[in-house]
Amino acid sequence: MPTLHSGELTRITLDLSPRSSEVIIGEGILAQLPQWLSEQARVGKRGVLVTDSNVDPLYGDQVIESLQQQGMTLTRIVIPAGEASKNMVQITDICRLMLQAELDRHSFLIALGGGVVGDAAGFAAAIFQRGIPVVQIPTTVVAQVDSSVGGKTGVNTPEGKNLIGAFHQPDLVFADVSTLHTLPDREYNEGFGEIIKHAAIRDASLLDLVEEIGTERKKLTELITRNVAIKAAVVEEDEHEISGTRALLNFGHTIGHGIEAAAGYGKMLHGEAISLGLVAAIRLSQKYSTLTEQEAKRLINTLQACSLPTQLNKAINSETILQTLRLDKKFVDGQIRFVLLKSLGNAFVSNEVTLDDIETAVDDLYSPP
Ligand code: NAD
Ligand code: GLY
Repeated sequence: MPTLHSGELTRITLDLSPRSSEVIIGEGILAQLPQWLSEQARVGKRGVLVTDSNVDPLYGDQVIESLQQQGMTLTRIVIPAGEASKNMVQITDICRLMLQAELDRHSFLIALGGGVVGDAAGFAAAIFQRGIPVVQIPTTVVAQVDSSVGGKTGVNTPEGKNLIGAFHQPDLVFADVSTLHTLPDREYNEGFGEIIKHAAIRDASLLDLVEEIGTERKKLTELITRNVAIKAAVVEEDEHEISGTRALLNFGHTIGHGIEAAAGYGKMLHGEAISLGLVAAIRLSQKYSTLTEQEAKRLINTLQACSLPTQLNKAINSETILQTLRLDKKFVDGQIRFVLLKSLGNAFVSNEVTLDDIETAVDDLYSPP
């Protein structure tokens, strides 16, 4: 995973089979997109830009016009903003609009937006004409530190999160950190759920940086780069989540996804639900492993300092959470593979956590941590 810093840009290459995936990170780099796209052998002259109703008025024209100046033709598809758009009906609509625009298997797709656009449009790219190249332009913290990198795409169903999807690696991820300045505070802060997850499973020193900057919008390039480096290293080791390394990225997500689905998609932001899932997984790590109270408190305090929830609202029913949990992809033959921490920065997959433990951990979330 070579990381190169040149001028204002950081370039991280994920060396994956059969080809690599490039991540470019920098401040104010959106205008340089055409030259980076022209280096992508699989990206031709005809494509589609998929974005959402909040991001389109902010960045849609800039991206389309800069690419048109390079002789590219782009069709624009705008989906409604929010988690509720991550569904199969939306995928069918995107694919049909692409067919009506006479796009074909030589076309490419650009996903411009947060994790919802990235996951949904990425999935459309994975299945349109059996797969076309995708370029991710992430514009949220969640998308820049996590979802745009690594090729997981998909949609939700009423039964649970991300239960239908595909691995489809982006040819290019182009993260302009200055786009994060237009994010509302709540949407900015939710990204710290994934950042604190990365620190917890792989890099305790990242927590120092988060404690230092909190949610002040500074040192953004360093923050995003360090997170992408963690994610890229994990994905390179275990792209298709087979050996167990990539499963570590699911820390906090088993219970977090159950809460997100039970609340109703879009009611609670992804990172907010993950924050609650992290608290439960931290407490289970003390019970089943060697995580100390001091380490647990440090993680929970950092979540709180980032204005993330650490106590579950009683309006979200625990039985509904457990129902969706039972359908989680991480259950194998009725047994859950649950990610725990041995210590800060050191995670492992445990087979010891039972559904009863999970039920207790969910119930405990209704009290202050
Ligand atoms: P999101 O895409 O819904 O974005 C949050 C909100 O911010 C939306 O209203 C959006 O319109 C708005 N927005 C986006 N960029 C903006 C900008 N620059 N300025 C102003 N507003 C902007 O949500 P998200 O938190 O980015 O992503 C959450 C999704 O990502 C979930 O569905 C989650 O499952 C998925 N996810 C996937 C992976 C993966 O590996 N594929 C990893 C983590 C999360
Ligand atoms: N966000 C979890 C993963 O990419 O594996």
